[in-house]
Parts: sequence; C-alpha cells; structure tokens
Amino acid sequence: KSELRVGVAGLGTVGASLVRLLRRKADSFAARCGRPVTVTGVSARDRSRDRGIDLSGTAWFDRAEDLAVSSDIDVFVELIGGDNGPAEASVRAALAAGKHVVTANKALLARHGVELARLAEENGVSLAFEAAAAGGIPVIKAVRESLAGNDISRIYGILNGTCNYILTRMEQEGLDFSECLADAQRLGYAEADPTFDIEGFDTAHKLALLTSLAFGNEIDADAIYIEGISSITRADIEAATELGYRIKLLGVAQKTDSGIEQRVHPTMVPRASAIARIDGVLNAVAIDGDAVGEVVLVGPGAGGNATASAVLGDIADIARGLAIPALGRPVGKLSPYKAARMRMH
Ligand code: HSE
Repeated sequence: KSELRVGVAGLGTVGASLVRLLRRKADSFAARCGRPVTVTGVSARDRSRDRGIDLSGTAWFDRAEDLAVSSDIDVFVELIGGDNGPAEASVRAALAAGKHVVTANKALLARHGVELARLAEENGVSLAFEAAAAGGIPVIKAVRESLAGNDISRIYGILNGTCNYILTRMEQEGLDFSECLADAQRLGYAEADPTFDIEGFDTAHKLALLTSLAFGNEIDADAIYIEGISSITRADIEAATELGYRIKLLGVAQKTDSGIEQRVHPTMVPRASAIARIDGVLNAVAIDGDAVGEVVLVGPGAGGNATASAVLGDIADIARGLAIPALGRPVGKLSPYKAARMRMH
C-alpha cells in the first residue's frame, strides 16, 4: 500500500515527541498500519530553535495554513493550540482541501467542534481527536466506539494532569501552589497559558467533548459551571485530610431531570475511593453505562510522549482506512449550569 504522508503543525512538547516517535518507530508502526507513515512536512513559529529532532527530508512551512493545503500531505496534525488564529484557520483549510485532520486541541473543538465536524463530513475526511481529552488515555474511542451499546448516566473524572500534579504534591510534600505549578510547566504538562489548567477551563473543554460523545448533545462549554484550584490552600488540603478526604479537581457530566448537568470544581473525595488514589499527572475517567456498569480508565493525562501516543492511534486509524465519525447526531439536552461550591463526591 502507498505511504501515508503526515504534516505536523506545531513543534512544542507534543509535536516534537510525535516526530521523534514516528521516526524511531517507522518500521513497527508501518507494520501495524499496513503501510509506511512518514512526516513529509512540518510548521512552527521559530525555525531556528533546536528541538532535538531530525527534520531532514521534511519540508518546512512557516505558516500552518500553507502546510494544511500542501499537496505533499494526506493528514494534517494540528498541535498548535488555541481556539482561534492559526490553529482554527489551518484546520478549516485542511478539511476544506480534503485532508484528514488529527488534533489534540480541546479548546478549538470545545468552541468550533460542531462546525468542524460538519466540514469534515462534507469533505469526506476524518476529524480525529483522541489526544484532546485525558492525554494518553483512549477515552474518546472508549466512549464513542467500545461503549456504543450503553445508555450512559454519568461520566466524570480527573481530566487535568497539571492540577492533579499540583494537588498531589501540595498534599504529599507540603509544597506551595506556585512551586508545584512551575514544576508542572517545566515538565511540559501545563498549557501555554497555565490559567487554562488551574482555573478549570482545560478540564471544561475536555468535559464538553466527553459529554457530547457520551450523551449525544451538541458540544457546549458555555453550559459548564467552572471553578478551578487556584484558591485551594495547604490549609484546605490539611482539613480535608483530617476528615478522611482528598481534594481533586473533577469534571462531571450527568443526566438529571432537567437535562445533562456539566460541572468542574474542586471536590472532596473519600480517601478510600478509586478516584482519590489517582496521583500526580495521571488522569482517570469513570463512565457509568447501563449495560456494562462502571468502567474506570486511568493513565497519563499530559506530557509529550503520552499525548503523542493518542495522536499516533488516530493516525493509525486513518492509515488503515477506518472512517472516523467525528461526532454523533445531537439528541440530548443540556441543563443550564448551577452554582456549586466544593462538593462531596
Ligand atoms: N495541560 C493539560 C493537562 C495537558 O495538564 O492535563 C493535556 O491536555
């Protein structure tokens, strides 16, 4: 079979890891996909930066929009980030030009996912986004494909590695919030603007995607109640510990009488519960399905290789010719958000 040609836009933590993995695993990945998969083009803002990756034989584009429509690529991988600007423009251009798109960009999908899915459908290409929720955990495919036979009543979990890393270290090592955040940034877990992590927006973007897949409603991040962890102090954590709880930032979507309720907030979880034991950069997603019962998926929620792993899974689907339905048809109804303070779980 012919080679699948991949263009990678954005060479930050995830983009550089992806290029590195694709080069290192060229043979084994080709065997899994049934055809060679090659990076034929890349784009990033700063050409001179040393990223420790071999870009020989790879065309360089200064603008992601030009890479997106290049005749040298079949798949456009968007790892730029942001819900507008070059990320949005290049994804639209790629879909309109009939290229498959793989993205890790939850902010973009939370805002424009419905339109972009329609554009993909109109052009007969895939819009794949496994890396956009819970990093390396294959939760998008689990909810959309493997659990398709279930009516889901609730989906919730720890969806931000940066916050979980901060809360874990504050509790276990008695460190200050800002010190832990700086380490999360250094380790490549945090978003370019860490406000997205610590104020709960990143969790909300991911929750909006999962809600849509679990309940079949249109993506609507504006319908989410959002409270982050920036006001959590060591005293809060110590008080929770004394009472037998740990504090976790949870995203929760569940069926209620008035529709699907979506919320993001610091939550007191009993120490003995499965979710309380998720430490560091790990994420966890729990799904309640009527046929299967409760399924809990745990794994790394951030980081270059872990997130690139999810991107590679999507590229493999495309290489194998699997049609990826971007989103289901909207059938569910969302409930307007209600204010919540720190809740018990
Ligand atoms: N900043 C995100 C996190 C990266 O910390 O979970 C993955 O989306």
